[in-house]
Amino acid sequence: MKKLVVLSGAGMSAESGISTFRDAGGLWEQYPVEAVATPDGYARDPELVTRFYNERRRQLQEVEPNRGHCLLAEMEREYDITVITQNVDNLHERAGSSHVIHLHGELMKVTSSRQPNNPAYIRELKPEEWEVKIGDLAADGTQLRPFIVWFGEAVPNIEVAVEYVEQADILVIIGTSLNVYPAAGLLHYASPRCEVFLIDPNEVNVTATHHPINLIRKGASEGVKELWDTLKG
Ligand code: APR
Repeated sequence: MKKLVVLSGAGMSAESGISTFRDAGGLWEQYPVEAVATPDGYARDPELVTRFYNERRRQLQEVEPNRGHCLLAEMEREYDITVITQNVDNLHERAGSSHVIHLHGELMKVTSSRQPNNPAYIRELKPEEWEVKIGDLAADGTQLRPFIVWFGEAVPNIEVAVEYVEQADILVIIGTSLNVYPAAGLLHYASPRCEVFLIDPNEVNVTATHHPINLIRKGASEGVKELWDTLKG
């Protein structure tokens, strides 16, 4: 089976009803990113940050994977697929994708405020446990924090992601503005023989690559359908 690697961003989940970050009306227009997605913001106002992620978690219970997520899961019949996602939702998993690497953490997981990447403290919440309260503690006695990679923090999964991209026969970038590093740099690890597709209804500024890119200017659902048809030839 050919190795197909997906790099997905917020646009992947847009058709499920989850806002993107940088489109008009996106999340970063509604909330100051420094306040809700940085370690400093969390130190300054943990209540606000906890409420922000509670709201994201509550919303996640109300949405479903879209056709694009589902088609990617179905494509596992024909391809060896690894999904590398910047998304913190669990819609790839809920659609049935079996190998998902989250670069920016996972909304349905919580961890220690002191050692967020220590596996001993990372815990998956059940859907009904979406509301975290100030005073809820991790196993090390610190306040439970979202298992989210904030701006300014290291991205522990980037190395394993690079390895998958290097080995890919096909790389499919879906619904990301490629503004945030190191995720945006993953394309540069694609080997010269790797076929690259980019699915996005809007123009994406792909910086400094000589790699030919097959553009599919469609939303995720239609775009993944077109991708599969194109690959079938
Ligand atoms: N289908 C596919 N793509 C879409 C759709 C759709 N229906 N609707 C919008 N898009 C595209 C937009 O054109 C844009 O290129 O999705 C992209 C969303 O870009 P961003 O909002 O910047 O999201 P993303 O690239 O995932 O952001 C990266 O920034 O703040 C952070 O940590 C957060 O993981 C996130 C990271």
